[in-house]
Amino acid sequence: MALYSDKVMDHFLHPRNVGMMEDANGVGEVGNAKCGDIMKMYLKIEDDTIQDVKFETFGCGSAIASSSMATEMIKGKPVSEAMQLTNKAVAEALDGLPAYKMHCSVLAEEAVQAALADYEKRKAEGR
Ligand code: FES
Repeated sequence: MALYSDKVMDHFLHPRNVGMMEDANGVGEVGNAKCGDIMKMYLKIEDDTIQDVKFETFGCGSAIASSSMATEMIKGKPVSEAMQLTNKAVAEALDGLPAYKMHCSVLAEEAVQAALADYEKRKAEGR
């Protein structure tokens, strides 16, 4: 069996929603101290719905595939639904990741949560 699923390879080679976003109103950046990979997630939220999402990942192929898949899974969704996103769901949507690469999907979950927390913070501050 191939180490990586076709979906992982597809999202790694053709990542969706890659890049930065000037007018994001929720931005989250997380990193993994062990491997040194960094993931940044940008959200454009209107009416409590994720209208647009972009990411920048400085990391391994699984991290790129996980962030790409995570953006697809939350785009167009209500904030409350995006908050439920788990790394397990991301890995499942990618048809699995090798056990030692599961932390790459954790980074995607954390980046989404960090961006949502930033959005909530800005909202509370009236920004
Ligand atoms: Fe660390 Fe993939 S090896 S995020």
